[in-house]
Amino acid sequence: IRITWDESLAEKSGYPHFMLKEIFEQPIALESALVGRLKDGKPQIKEVQSLENFVKNQMKKVYVVACGTSYHAGLAAKYFVNRYSDIDFDIEVASEFRYMNPAIDSNTLVLAISQSGETIDTLEGVRLARKKGAYVLAISNVVGSTISRESDGVLYLNTGPEIGVAATKTYTAQIALLYTLAAQLIYWKGYKKEELDEIMRNIEKMPELFRIILDKTNGHLMELVKEYKNFKDMMYVGRVFGFPAALEGALKLKEISYINAIAYQAGELKHGPIALLDDNFPVFAIVPLGKLREKMISNIMEVKARGAKVIALTSKDDLQTKKICDDYIDVPSIFEPLIPLVVAPITQLFAYYIAVQKGLDPDKPRNLAKSVTVE
Ligand code: AGP
Repeated sequence: IRITWDESLAEKSGYPHFMLKEIFEQPIALESALVGRLKDGKPQIKEVQSLENFVKNQMKKVYVVACGTSYHAGLAAKYFVNRYSDIDFDIEVASEFRYMNPAIDSNTLVLAISQSGETIDTLEGVRLARKKGAYVLAISNVVGSTISRESDGVLYLNTGPEIGVAATKTYTAQIALLYTLAAQLIYWKGYKKEELDEIMRNIEKMPELFRIILDKTNGHLMELVKEYKNFKDMMYVGRVFGFPAALEGALKLKEISYINAIAYQAGELKHGPIALLDDNFPVFAIVPLGKLREKMISNIMEVKARGAKVIALTSKDDLQTKKICDDYIDVPSIFEPLIPLVVAPITQLFAYYIAVQKGLDPDKPRNLAKSVTVE
């Protein structure tokens, strides 16, 4: 009798890598992050109820401090808050923040986002913000982590441990939770927007949507990467909500496949980066529905004119975009603010399959550790 089962496969529930397991755990992770916190489209995060008075009567500004993928989640939250309110919202990479003189005081709510809760720069950011009198709310996945202990309050992601060095399920849980928190702040500040109510109902349905996206795109992506795995460079472009999605897509690809993946706001192409493009430098374009679609289409035409291949991530009924691209990946028709969420499983799988097909181990990328506890 040959037994092919082994302990490491069991830990990975039959998946070849933790990263793939964690990508497919996202529907459950999103459910766990949102349960008891978002119901019938209404935010009800019990951990922040004590902040209601502070937010309504004192809070003048929100400031995010984070690194890497957690920073990208914070950037998505910035665009979200900006779309539905005039709340002043600033964000800085923690390694910069800690050496700056950030404009924060006792009227500031600082969100320290850290999956591990141990990132040294974010921790130093927490210490600086508290010294300046801000209320610091940690958003972490690790119960009892240093950042959660040193902050004034904490919101846990509740996704279960993330073993893969590349953050996947914790990133999308961060965005879903940050959007829910943002909606709570926006409602407390008295803003009323019908679209926001609708978005929150959509976020509640995100676990189901993720199941569909993962199911529909997995096989396609496994095949598609064969055409892209040998490129040395790749550019991700998007606008507004598409930009954090582009940054995160590029980070995933570079950290596990070592392809030089860079991200830009598509409008920046003409200000320099387009000079890089030719038939050896493909572009991954994130094309939302709505007013930015036309702008993205012109950017794609400019890129195509330089000979670069384009993969578009686009809505399934966007036939115009599909026609001008070399390859496309369908997502259901979605509101712009949901882009950072729905794009994530696709760019994660794209990076994962490229790494695997290049013979690399995506769980153990060179030169990287899961948490960066030294400067
Ligand atoms: C992303 O895949 C990386 N693991 C990395 O950028 C990470 O997000 C960053 O180091 C911050 O970690 P933290 O969320 O644990 O603070």
